[in-house]
Amino acid sequence: MPTATDKPVAHPDWTPTSWQAKPAAQQPVYPDPEVLQRTLGQLARLPPLVTSWEIENLKHQLAEATRGERFLLQGGDCSESFADCESSAIASKLKILLQMSLVLVQGGKKRVTRIGRFAGQYAKPRSTDTETQKGVTLPSYRGDMINCAGFSREDRTPNPELLLRAFERSGLTINFVRSLIEGGFADLHHPEYWELGFVANSQHAVEYTRMVETIGDSLRFMETLTGSVLADINRVDFFTSHEGLLLYYEQAQTRQVPRHSGWYNLSTHFPWIGDRTRALDGAHLEYFRGIANPIGIKIGPSVTPDEALALTQMLNPKNEPGRLTFIHRFGADRVEKCLPPLVEAIRRRGQQVLWCCDPMHGNTETTKSGIKTRRFEKITGELELSYRILKACGAHLGGVHFELTGDNVTECIGGASGVTEADLTRDYRSTLDPRLNYEQAMEMALLLARLLAQSSR
Ligand code: PEP
Ligand code: CO
Repeated sequence: MPTATDKPVAHPDWTPTSWQAKPAAQQPVYPDPEVLQRTLGQLARLPPLVTSWEIENLKHQLAEATRGERFLLQGGDCSESFADCESSAIASKLKILLQMSLVLVQGGKKRVTRIGRFAGQYAKPRSTDTETQKGVTLPSYRGDMINCAGFSREDRTPNPELLLRAFERSGLTINFVRSLIEGGFADLHHPEYWELGFVANSQHAVEYTRMVETIGDSLRFMETLTGSVLADINRVDFFTSHEGLLLYYEQAQTRQVPRHSGWYNLSTHFPWIGDRTRALDGAHLEYFRGIANPIGIKIGPSVTPDEALALTQMLNPKNEPGRLTFIHRFGADRVEKCLPPLVEAIRRRGQQVLWCCDPMHGNTETTKSGIKTRRFEKITGELELSYRILKACGAHLGGVHFELTGDNVTECIGGASGVTEADLTRDYRSTLDPRLNYEQAMEMALLLARLLAQSSR
């Protein structure tokens, strides 16, 4: 049997730690490097969370999406918290993504790939390294994997132990997701399992129920025709993703495996590079260029067509479909200016890129009373514009990326249920970015399904 060392290394000048020679943005400063190294050693010995087979399967699915044969739905919290690692929060995130994907399958008449922003989304980029309260300055809170949200020196000092806690919670989360799916929770014959408690009260319940019935009827029709249960399409699968921000964590789970060449980040299927850490000469690009996973990169208004091309050359030199997803997040007011020149440049060079719209991060605003929010109509606005622009430029919208929750929080304004600015204080739970609530997420899926239906006819 071949051993890991027999395998060709995809990039001879690359190792899981070669990023350390480059400037690394958004990294915490650990007070004791020895404790950090010891912890990384422990992390590297733990069994992985995902396998290279699953990762290759996802890459294959994303290649289909790049060709327009599939659609990608990626979503979840802005940031996971250790406190929310519990069964109902995980099940409701899974349910909302399942329900939305069912709606998208109906509208787009294509298979949908679901990727959760979970099982590792524990590190966050911050606009400043420190925070000052009442004359006291401490390191900023950077996510539960790095430090604690409380405002004391002890809370805010980066603690390597939290890397292990984050990895274990990611393992617990993925274990529960896998068990639910394996146990039949995601069986298309039983979409009633996925229903969240308040679906019956939703304004969209009728439309959703009709879609579910149509899918059930089609399944039964096919099974009657073939005389067997369609095992392959009964079940849906699920993939995980997180921002690959804290490079020590990513490095520790980057491995060679017996039956595939190259190096895999086995802490998640689909890591992505954030908009703040995508410098061409930076540590994140260095790390990501060497791993074999399919990867995403967030691109905001500051990216130029030349830079976008340079990113594709560096991250996908073999121009492999499915390897690279551009998660664009310009904002409804800027997408018409920013997106067309990029799509043009990529298309002219024949680069294989999956275009996935994140209509959340370019549309964040702060109300007069200081609450971070997003407006439903800006989010739908950016989605619709992206869909049309991509189509007009000879490309296609291949996926969407949302920050959402299965709970009925009040963090984003608007939608049919009419959340107003005054409602924001009623049930605002996010410690970072505002998420679509259950109703808003379902409404978004229905609007998107109508949009996708235009090209499936
Ligand atoms: C995020 O996805 O939570 C995020 C920080 O996004 P971006 O890198 O696009 O700003
Ligand atoms: Co966010």
